[in-house]
Amino acid sequence: MAVLGSDSRRWSGLLLIFVFLCSFITPVVTVKHENFKKCDQSGFCKRNRAYADAALSTSSWQAPYSLDPASIKFDNGMLTGSVVKTIVNTAETVRLPLTIAFYESGTARVTLDEERRQKGDIVLRHDSKAKKQRYNEAEKWAIVGGTTLSQGAATSKGAEKGTTNISYGPAGTFEAVIRHSPFGIDFKRNGETQIQFNNRGLLNVEHWRPKVEKPVEEKKEGEEAVVGESAKDTEEDEGTWWDESFGGSTDSKPKGPEAVALDISFPNYQHVFGVAEHAGPLSLKETRGGDGKYSEPYRLYNSDVFEYEMDSPMTLYGAIPFMQAQKKDSTVGVFWLNAAETWIDITKSSSSTNPLSLGIGSKITTNTHWISESGLLDVFIFLGPKPQDVVGAYTELTGYTQLPQQFAIAYHQCRWNYVTDEDVRDVDRKFDKNRIPYDVIWLDIEYTEGKKYFTWDPDTFANPLGMEKQLDEHERKLVAIIDPHIKNEGNYPVVDELKSKDLAVHNKDGNIYEGWCWPGSSHWVDCFNPAAHTWWKSLFRYDKFKGTAKNTWIWNDMNEPSVFNGPETTMPKDNLHHGGWEHRDVHNINGMTFQNATYHAILARDKEEDKANVRPFVLTRSFYSGSQRLGAMWTGDNQAAWPHLEASIPMLLSMGISGFPFAGADVGGFFGNPSKELLTRWYQAGAFYPFFRGHAHIDTRRREPYLAGEPYTQIITQALRLRYSLLPAWYTAFHEAHTNGAPILRPNYYVHPGDEKGFAIDDQFYVGSTGLLAKPVTTEGADGVDIYLADKEKYFDYFDYWMYEGPTTVSLAASLDTIPLLMQGGHIIPRRDRPRRSSGLMRYDPFTLVVVIGNSGDAEGTLYLDDGESFDYEEGAFIHRRFEYKSATSTLMSEDLAAASASPSRKTKDYLKAMEKVRVEKVIVVGAPESWKSKKEVEVSEELAGKSSGTKSAELEWHGKEEGKAAWAVVRDPGIQIGAGWKISFA
Ligand code: GLC
Repeated sequence: MAVLGSDSRRWSGLLLIFVFLCSFITPVVTVKHENFKKCDQSGFCKRNRAYADAALSTSSWQAPYSLDPASIKFDNGMLTGSVVKTIVNTAETVRLPLTIAFYESGTARVTLDEERRQKGDIVLRHDSKAKKQRYNEAEKWAIVGGTTLSQGAATSKGAEKGTTNISYGPAGTFEAVIRHSPFGIDFKRNGETQIQFNNRGLLNVEHWRPKVEKPVEEKKEGEEAVVGESAKDTEEDEGTWWDESFGGSTDSKPKGPEAVALDISFPNYQHVFGVAEHAGPLSLKETRGGDGKYSEPYRLYNSDVFEYEMDSPMTLYGAIPFMQAQKKDSTVGVFWLNAAETWIDITKSSSSTNPLSLGIGSKITTNTHWISESGLLDVFIFLGPKPQDVVGAYTELTGYTQLPQQFAIAYHQCRWNYVTDEDVRDVDRKFDKNRIPYDVIWLDIEYTEGKKYFTWDPDTFANPLGMEKQLDEHERKLVAIIDPHIKNEGNYPVVDELKSKDLAVHNKDGNIYEGWCWPGSSHWVDCFNPAAHTWWKSLFRYDKFKGTAKNTWIWNDMNEPSVFNGPETTMPKDNLHHGGWEHRDVHNINGMTFQNATYHAILARDKEEDKANVRPFVLTRSFYSGSQRLGAMWTGDNQAAWPHLEASIPMLLSMGISGFPFAGADVGGFFGNPSKELLTRWYQAGAFYPFFRGHAHIDTRRREPYLAGEPYTQIITQALRLRYSLLPAWYTAFHEAHTNGAPILRPNYYVHPGDEKGFAIDDQFYVGSTGLLAKPVTTEGADGVDIYLADKEKYFDYFDYWMYEGPTTVSLAASLDTIPLLMQGGHIIPRRDRPRRSSGLMRYDPFTLVVVIGNSGDAEGTLYLDDGESFDYEEGAFIHRRFEYKSATSTLMSEDLAAASASPSRKTKDYLKAMEKVRVEKVIVVGAPESWKSKKEVEVSEELAGKSSGTKSAELEWHGKEEGKAAWAVVRDPGIQIGAGWKISFA
């Protein structure tokens, strides 16, 4: 054996250490760009960008669209008319039916369709089975309310020549100025223009046309038709009108070009947010190149993007085509209701109010250009002026987030895969042994027999019911994955039924579509089909999906849909869905239809069984506007790398302001093995994700929190306990989102819309209306963070009451065991501090109220509470309290927010009865006045069943100011019910 010299020994030692370290740290790997289109590889995007370039390169550009004045009618809150498109270089015109609806809510909606021609029909290129119409059913899936037409909307006087003006909105303060030629609309609030349609002249509705056969250019063998190839010497780029190839697949385009595009400008608005889902900053970047800008538009085309990259406008798994614009004290927005592939270019221009101002006082205007491949042009306009006005109006249309079961907002433990039922039981026991709380354990695809959903692998999961029973002992749940691809294999009843009932997606020839996914050859259930929906329901019944119990819930993945051998890892666009709609028309809605079917299946499962009235839990990867009504989403396959932890915050903030706050990212990172520091920091951040789940790829090492070792396990446990103790605050925030669409994680601009300096901040956030302000550590080796405090208010460290005062930026120490978390003065935060194994076991635990006194001396907060699982809250079975501390009277009181009813329902009475024993065990007053220093007790009075129960006293414990920290006081066991009215007097 060769003896190593000391040098080589040292090197081999170092090498070993290096290899060891590498096995913990995963390098950030990047996406395969070649698998996904860039704008110039997507015919309609390229054409419309070129159209924009041509239009914007000349000052004499005349947009070829005009509203025929003779066609205009206005009645009952709705304007109708006909926009005429003049086809360039021909005398031909195309008529586009226009509607502009003005709703009671103050929202306006502009829709452009295309009149059918050629004997009432369009000419298709070949004998396609596709429906010969522009897709007009997106609203059927996305819109659930808010469309009552306004009776107050009226034609306004003093219209300039060539315009029609409609006033609408609150007290008629909104106005739509509709320019006839070229057609365009300015939306004004109090006389000031906020949003402009087609003021840059980029409106482009690609009209249907018959295919004119032209001599085909000779192509060399094996060569793909390149986008734009034959357009070199034609006026319009026709190269991709009638078919288009990418990555070896060809999209036959039976209807030819049919894109819709429009420029939407936000004059004097320097920030735009939204168009989730992208891995980039909250404040959207410009997209036409230049320093620090993107050169590609933001893309919305739901896709399974393997190893997605950071800071990118590339598409991801879901699409919410809703954008907000922000300037000082004003928020406005638009919702582009279109389910087809969509690209959005963003540019900013600066305009100086005074030519001699040398740029001082110049204002930034944000210009956007929206381009969709097919369907209607259908846009909703929101004129604010507050962020919540815009988010509230958008969620009134698309629905409020589901009020989740309480377990669903606690901690979820997942990995691909827990390999046997005994493995699951073992993990469950180990959480208990290590005194770590968790609510849900998840099963990924390996639990099935050969990736056949609705089956269990008989060798590894022989006793699923026994496993679920063990979980139930501590009120824990199981979530099992069910994907939309159905294995194409004989003797599998699910696929047999799918085929015999003809409920799958079809290919362009009308035959059942076949592609590849986890099971190999598969078919896809077509959830656009009502019959498929009914059938899907039947599959989840306990007697059909044997081995599931009442504590089994569902995870829907791969529903973009992900097709491993499909173009851009999805389905061909010329596939056909129910009703003859092409996949092209409905792609971005596809994922939502699947989650919708599962949601209703779970609802039916429990109702049919025993009339149980429980709220389903369904996680989805793919989503569209409206998916928030159906459950949670997560940001897909991230990586165990610091930039992915960092990116998760703006991504979740973006989801929150887009009406879909029940969002999370895989804690720990999906691909790769996190270092222990990264894992710990990720749990600390995850404790602030509305959806909080640890998950890991099949090739990664086990990383359940108890495996981390000390001090990591202890620190992670503290983060989990923090989440559990704040569950009442989280649940209250969810209830608020469920009632008015308010985000749960709130970015600075949302809370302080007058503070321009904070508009782009996206690494810190407030939790609901609690005043909790968190800034998770997302960088390696950090021992502190800077937090921006926007307002003139006191902030207190959550853990030690260290006091800060805004407006300023403060530095907080943040060693590995610390989560930077502040409490904004003026709030009251409800908590439950007893450590339990699961949230279900906290049902009757007492509450702690933290009163955080700010500069005004007052504080307020709310608590919403119900059984955390059923729909009984819809019948009044809930507690909703408002707490208020008033310095003028030195009293803290609890008042009822539930509408008082003379005859409460049986469910209300039963619930309140069950909650009678639930007490407030502690009141902590942070920033307590010095005058309480020598006080020993407070006076407490409670009102039960409308009657005062007299007064009693409770002990007051005083903690004087220490350097830098606030004084605080504690009232112990005041002997009051959480659900009752009461008053504590500190006077
Ligand atoms: C997808 C999901 C991931 C899951 C895996 C196996 O990659 O995004 O979460 O573990 O499929 O089902």
